[in-house]
Amino acid sequence: MSVVPSTRPLIPAARLCGIVVLPGDKSISHRYAMLAALAGGRTTLHHYAPGRDCRSTLDCLAALGAGVDHEAEAVRIEGRGIGRLTAPVDPLDAGNSGSTMRMLAGILAGHPFRSVLDGDRSLRQRPMRRIADPLTRMGARIETREGRAPLVIDGGPLRAITFEPEVPSAQVKTAVLLAGLHAEGDTTVIEPAPTRDHTERALAAFGAPPSIDGRRVTVRGGQALVTPHDLVVPGDASSAAFWAVGAAVFPGSEVELQGVGLNPGRLAFLDVLRAAGARVSVAPVGEQRAEPVGRITVSAGPLTAVRVSPRDVPALIDELPVLALLGIFGAGFRVDGAAELRTKEADRIAALAAGLRALGARIEEWADGFEVTPSRLRGGSADAAGDHRLAMTFALAALGAEAPSQLVGAEAVAVSYPGFFDDLRRLTDAAA
Ligand code: S3P
Repeated sequence: MSVVPSTRPLIPAARLCGIVVLPGDKSISHRYAMLAALAGGRTTLHHYAPGRDCRSTLDCLAALGAGVDHEAEAVRIEGRGIGRLTAPVDPLDAGNSGSTMRMLAGILAGHPFRSVLDGDRSLRQRPMRRIADPLTRMGARIETREGRAPLVIDGGPLRAITFEPEVPSAQVKTAVLLAGLHAEGDTTVIEPAPTRDHTERALAAFGAPPSIDGRRVTVRGGQALVTPHDLVVPGDASSAAFWAVGAAVFPGSEVELQGVGLNPGRLAFLDVLRAAGARVSVAPVGEQRAEPVGRITVSAGPLTAVRVSPRDVPALIDELPVLALLGIFGAGFRVDGAAELRTKEADRIAALAAGLRALGARIEEWADGFEVTPSRLRGGSADAAGDHRLAMTFALAALGAEAPSQLVGAEAVAVSYPGFFDDLRRLTDAAA
């Protein structure tokens, strides 16, 4: 689907105040939907992520024969059982969603039919060899266009492997583990660095807990999943990060983020905010089937410079663009070892630097990192480059500009957070 970029005015605001109930987590929604399609019965997913990416996953699963009934935020999925999805008539469209394409490829590798997985212009640029290689080792035939989509997958009987990915990636880990469910024997992924563990937790919720030993995760092939009936998706921690950073950098702000997933693998950005001097409190309020949930409150404090080292990058990968605001409005922000940012929905180093510079920020970039120094923003026109997280980052940055700005491609927020601008308006109105 091609969308004409819409330009949105961005009006400066002194601070952010109020309460936000976060939309359902994107990462967890994809996984629950895919596992529900592989389970035998009917699963109802509550608070399913409302963004376009998770809709792409549902559309692909429906095209593969799963029953999908989507009403507001509840999604009912009638699963077919492991290896029982049916051949799609048309190419499957993952849209803008790397998670949909990579994780679904793991499932399709174990199905005895040909399928074609394609996506939008951005997704067609992103590296797919990282999943094609291990899935080929397991016995699938996968054709790519020089390592990129469209993918033509001829699945079939798979053998278990032990796989050590070169880059830390939860999507790659998940693709191999999902293929492993369809394989004979035990499939192990040994991660180079820890990545989010939602797949491991989701597998447990579907009655197939993997065994975990440090960075080794092993699934047993050939087991059936158990339908959990009802699952509640926690609020998206990466979406919460926008408000948390906004509250940290604009003096006088305070936001309370409710119903947020508190999986420790997703909250490293709070450590960065604390290190910078923001006031952060976290109150767990329970656990929704293996995923902890709670409330996060953030208010501004005097900020100091922060530096993210390569070791900390995997746990911050989706939050690094918005954390750059600590550099503009605080005392500086630098990250190294983050070349992966260049392989996301956009080149998130080049497009971040271009957009922030257009607003007046001082930012320097190099192959695997960037540094932002404190800047007075005069305002300007920032281009989201089709990337949802850059759109939200620029929208927040523009609040602190001296004059109104413009956001080109504002509609990209719909990929993960369709209600972003409504929440932004509420938080700035409440603070006025
Ligand atoms: C995700 C993993 C990360 C992240 C993406 C979602 C997931 O990607 O950037 O937004 O749900 O597993 P990589 O696995 O490519 O690091």
